[in-house]
Amino acid sequence: MTVPAAGLPARVRVHEVGARDGLQNEKAVVPTEVKAEFVHRLAAAGLTTVEATSFVHPKWVPQLADAEQLFPLLGDLEGVRLPVLVPNERGLDRAMALGADRVAVFASATESFAKANLNRTVDEALAMFAPVVSRAKGRDMHVRGYLSMCFGDPWEGPVEVGRVLRVCRALLDLGCDELSLGDTIGVATPGHVTALLTALTTAGVAVDRIGVHFHDTYGQALANTLAALQHGVTTVDASAGGLGGCPYAKSATGNLATEDLVWMLHGLGIETGVDLGRLSATSAWMADRLGRPSPSRTVRALTHQEQ
Ligand code: HMG
Ligand code: MG
Repeated sequence: MTVPAAGLPARVRVHEVGARDGLQNEKAVVPTEVKAEFVHRLAAAGLTTVEATSFVHPKWVPQLADAEQLFPLLGDLEGVRLPVLVPNERGLDRAMALGADRVAVFASATESFAKANLNRTVDEALAMFAPVVSRAKGRDMHVRGYLSMCFGDPWEGPVEVGRVLRVCRALLDLGCDELSLGDTIGVATPGHVTALLTALTTAGVAVDRIGVHFHDTYGQALANTLAALQHGVTTVDASAGGLGGCPYAKSATGNLATEDLVWMLHGLGIETGVDLGRLSATSAWMADRLGRPSPSRTVRALTHQEQ
């Protein structure tokens, strides 16, 4: 049943991260053909932005070491945005060689995670991104700037809004088109989300350049999303079936499940273009490939998966 609520956007763009954030965290390496089929099924379910893979060091994330093999298998997907993660110029070169036209750099609000994830300080990582963003913009590519640990960090504890603002500003100054605010370990609660978004928009950042990226460790991802929607955010990251995490962040569990998100959005009368039945069937199919049930409540309810 659809019952709209006041003060929410009419449409939300779901930025699907299951094939990247989801599969980077699987113990088993998923065969390239299965990944390609996953991305095709996600697109067929109506997702128009499907983050495909990462051009990072293969030793750092062996699960995505097949980026060169996977990306060409997606060439037939017309009208679907296929962003890829690139940490440095080497990653950008690899992505450009395959014709990628949307890339994402990924910064950290905290020093501990910058070191763990990128082997750099926060400022060294920004310096590493500078030529990546300027070269990508020189080619008219779309550049997303992820920012991890926007709310809390497993080593450093709660993260002050001011620290997050500084790195957001730096990413925008480099030339990023869009920010994605990451709650990498899922500790945010809705008031904190509103406080961060208020600080950003008060500092002059247009809300249509801000996406949110919640992990669901403490079951807060949907509540946090609603707080963001109430603030005017219309880009929400989510992962089919709730796959996900980050291999370099202790206690990062799955992302907000795309199905749980779409269930809420459609219930509110917010358009997404996503066919929830097809999407849930895709996640159930992927859960079979991975050998365990999807953590998404909506997938389980709609596909009657065994607990
Ligand atoms: P490093 O060890 O400092 O690398 O790692 P380096 O710059 O010293 O280079 C060492 C060697 O690696 C060189 O080779 C480079 O060419 C090679 P050599 O000259 O010695 O033969 N190299 C590469 N090879 C292939 N592709 C590359 C590449 N770069 C260097 N791109 C590095 C630094 C950034 C490479 C490493 O730390 C890395 O790959 N990190 C990626 C970690 C990662 O992918 N984490 C998960 C994504 S972030 C996330 O999940 C959070 C997010 O979801 C948001 C949220 O939830 O908060 C986005
Ligand atoms: Mg993530």
